[in-house]
Amino acid sequence: MIPEHLILLSTRVCAGYSPFHQYLPPPFQVPTTPYLPKRAVECFRSSCQPSGRVGFLSKDLLASMRLTSIIQLAIMTLQLSLHVMLVLKELVSCASEKVPVPTAKPEFLTLILSGATAYISLKKLGALSEVEKVFVTAAAGGTGQFAVQFAKRAKCHVTGTCSSNEKAGFLKSIGCDRPINYKTEDIQEVLRKENPKGLDVVYESISGELFDLAINRMATKGQLIVIGFISGYQTATGIQPVRTGTLPAKLLQKSASILGFFLPHYLSEYKAAMKHMLEMCEKGELVCEVDLGEITPEGKFVSLESVFRAVDYLYLGKNIGKIVVELPHSVSSKL
Ligand SMILES: NC(=O)c1ccc[n+]([C@@H]2O[C@H](COP(=O)([O-])OP(=O)(O)OC[C@H]3O[C@@H](n4cnc5c(N)ncnc54)[C@H](OP(=O)(O)O)[C@@H]3O)[C@@H](O)[C@H]2O)c1
Repeated sequence: MIPEHLILLSTRVCAGYSPFHQYLPPPFQVPTTPYLPKRAVECFRSSCQPSGRVGFLSKDLLASMRLTSIIQLAIMTLQLSLHVMLVLKELVSCASEKVPVPTAKPEFLTLILSGATAYISLKKLGALSEVEKVFVTAAAGGTGQFAVQFAKRAKCHVTGTCSSNEKAGFLKSIGCDRPINYKTEDIQEVLRKENPKGLDVVYESISGELFDLAINRMATKGQLIVIGFISGYQTATGIQPVRTGTLPAKLLQKSASILGFFLPHYLSEYKAAMKHMLEMCEKGELVCEVDLGEITPEGKFVSLESVFRAVDYLYLGKNIGKIVVELPHSVSSKL
């Protein structure tokens, strides 16, 4: 049975204070007031419409609200989750630009944020070409899985990091040439031995030590694309320190570069990306792995209450593919 509502769980959802606030462009800059996850879930519950099919909020509800209320709602509900902002923008401002999906399957949700991020960032910044060495961190996660597949499509050699043998198996199944389970292998050693000329493109979402390590293993003219910094999200400052003291010298020595990517800055590319990814899905050329939490002791992530469990699961690094929480029944709107 197709659920009426599905929530795509971003790393930001209910994570408490979001350090991303300060980086958002107007009109999305907001006071950095922390909201408790419980409050966020309550607000979310009162904002769902029974008519919605796939997405956070129904189109009719959004159309009837002023932009300021929508922004406020987004802040209150999901701590300015990147995904919420994206969906709101798509639904409210670009209703005619929507890309239809063939069926309401959770797999398609993975494309909205994770797939689009990997697709557009690698297309616009990665300039992938054959036989390049690509290194993807959190490769078996929601976004990483797509970076691996798009790099393989461009005929690159892909190394991906993950934290279990099961994830390594999944990475193999989607074409990753060299999954590294960092719990059992030394990433630095593997890279030094197996990529002696260095990494041409690094797709980085973890930061901290892994960022430093990747910088040290860059090839001449290598590019490191920063899409996130998850190792810091649960810390007091929201970001783990990196070794920047020697960075100018390291970049100069290799003519290397670091490029940031934030999806809302590339919305003009969004529709074409979605269209292409959906075509790839139809042809069976793209795996969209979702993690519904079925293997957790409490079972599948169902209902708003299970968002807390899903967030813990995500930060424990247990997920393979994108975590999706299912809302199986209608929730009435109080707005
Ligand atoms: N720039 C953008 O526009 C944009 C858009 C979407 C997402 N993002 C970013 O992309 C990254 C991935 O997001 P996602 O939603 O797809 O998540 P995800 O990759 O599905 O899940 C996070 C994974 O990160 C790994 N990880 C490594 N160190 C971790 C730590 N200290 N705490 C928690 N997890 C850790 C874990 O896998 P292993 O330990 O097995 O590697 C975990 O499964 C995030 O940094 C997110 O902010 C950016």
